[in-house]
Amino acid sequence: MADLGIFDPKNPVIHDAPSICQMDIPFHLCTLKQQELSAVAALLSLCFYPQDGWRSWFTPLLQMGIFHDLQSRYSVHRSPYTRLIGAQILRSTSSELIGTVEVSLKPLSPWSPFAPAVAYISNLAVVPPYRSQGVGKQLLLACEPIVRQWRQNHLYLHVLNDNTPAQRLYAKVGYQLTHPNARQASLIFAPSKRLLLSKSL
Ligand SMILES: CC(C)(COP(=O)(O)OP(=O)(O)OC[C@H]1O[C@@H](n2cnc3c(N)ncnc32)[C@H](O)[C@@H]1OP(=O)(O)O)[C@@H](O)C(=O)NCCC(=O)NCCS
Repeated sequence: MADLGIFDPKNPVIHDAPSICQMDIPFHLCTLKQQELSAVAALLSLCFYPQDGWRSWFTPLLQMGIFHDLQSRYSVHRSPYTRLIGAQILRSTSSELIGTVEVSLKPLSPWSPFAPAVAYISNLAVVPPYRSQGVGKQLLLACEPIVRQWRQNHLYLHVLNDNTPAQRLYAKVGYQLTHPNARQASLIFAPSKRLLLSKSL
């Protein structure tokens, strides 16, 4: 995106992150625009909510909730410290969104709105057919130059204790458990607790 000096607005490819081609079609990383939010909401509901069984009946409702939440944050008056990055496969007449990540500056806990803001990663998701091919890793790495431009030298994120694929990816990219005792405590008291990870840049 032009205001960051990282993306070319005409050809929205991140210049200082490698353009990767481990699958048969290359994918590109770009900041997403407001008109792409419904595709992001569809991708997030596909990745985070059940797609079959009776619980899938609620998925359209959840998708609508995600869309409205994104829309409120990415409206015209959005904070300058929030970015939604997409991984796209560009075809001759269209593009397919295959992954997203969101990075923003905000307090770590919604219950402490006056706590100092930190660089925080959320909504990392890659659609199932394109997983384990490096898309998630490149989405995470793409957040780093943005955060450096915000003059932050740490990145934070939460992951569920039982989300092994995501935890492996975060470890590979250099994230560490912020409070090493949290894992034991979460295993004893709450099997599916969120863990706080961080990476220093
Ligand atoms: C977590 C997620 C984003 C990973 O995306 P991805 O594109 O598959 O990740 P990558 O291909 O970049 O993976 C990098 C590393 O993570 C690990 N990894 C990724 N998927 C894995 C899986 N299914 N099982 C085990 N390890 C996995 C591997 O160590 C991999 O290293 P490798 O390239 O040497 O195999 C994806 O699985 C997903 O969308 N999950 C559902 C949503 C979610 O849980 N988001 C995270 C919320 S905290």
